Amino acid sequence: MTENMTTPERVVIIGGSSGMGLALAAALVGTGAEVTIAGRSAARLADAERTLPEGPGKVRSVVADITRETDLEQLFTEVGQVDHVVITAADANGAYQPIGSFDAEIGRNFFEAKVIGPALVAKHAQLAPGGSLTFTSGIAAYRPAAGASVVAAANGALASLAYALAVELGPLRVNVVSPGWIDTPIWDTIAGPAKTERHQQMAARLPVGRIGRPDDIARAMLTLMHNPYITGTVLHVDGGHRLT
Ligand SMILES: NC(=O)c1ccc[n+]([C@@H]2O[C@H](COP(=O)([O-])OP(=O)(O)OC[C@H]3O[C@@H](n4cnc5c(N)ncnc54)[C@H](OP(=O)(O)O)[C@@H]3O)[C@@H](O)[C@H]2O)c1
Repeated sequence: MTENMTTPERVVIIGGSSGMGLALAAALVGTGAEVTIAGRSAARLADAERTLPEGPGKVRSVVADITRETDLEQLFTEVGQVDHVVITAADANGAYQPIGSFDAEIGRNFFEAKVIGPALVAKHAQLAPGGSLTFTSGIAAYRPAAGASVVAAANGALASLAYALAVELGPLRVNVVSPGWIDTPIWDTIAGPAKTERHQQMAARLPVGRIGRPDDIARAMLTLMHNPYITGTVLHVDGGHRLT
């Protein structure tokens, strides 16, 4: 919660048209927040807005690609000062490859979205006192698996970025959520038709006995946004995946 709760909380979610970002938008609308969801596809944003529940809050969409600095400048000029910015944007297309077939261009694009994009957001976002940035890394950095080395490197780098920004931008806060396997549309890209089988296998391996839901991540993000004493922290929301 920001210090002045007489005005609605203003939150930007880059990646808010799908998966975890969309779940967070839904939760925030229920609390009366003013939410801006951003992503590359206008159609996907419009579809997302239609799926959001009616609530006391308001939602609007802005088309923006996190890898383009001009898009981010425009986005943050349009929304003005906000309380929190959350980033879930990533395009996994081609990013999961054995190192023998590593495609440098795909690797660069993945890093652009996962690491450079959040740095540019930190540069351009106008955060109100008490505000925060929340990034999304992932289990690949902490429980490495074959075929995910570049994804692991980007997620690890994102945590280091957050630690450094927490120092540089304080008293504004900067944190990271590191999800385990969460059932979102990204899995259609990562696993295609093998998704259900792979999820069942992982669920059997995890201490909690199930794959994560987008709402599991949204709840963790709300904690990081609203607890004024958490900064420079990676919150693992992975069902115990790091222990398996
Ligand atoms: N799901 C998992 O199991 C899992 C596990 C570990 C980590 N993660 C991480 O969690 C985050 C959220 O994943 P998710 O599962 O919620 O994915 P998702 O359902 O595919 O949603 C990704 C969102 O990011 C947007 N996006 C992608 N590239 C973008 C760009 N360059 N600029 C702006 N927006 C962009 C997408 O919209 P457009 O395509 O229209 O731009 C979409 O709204 C990602 O960083 C992912 O790497 C996911």
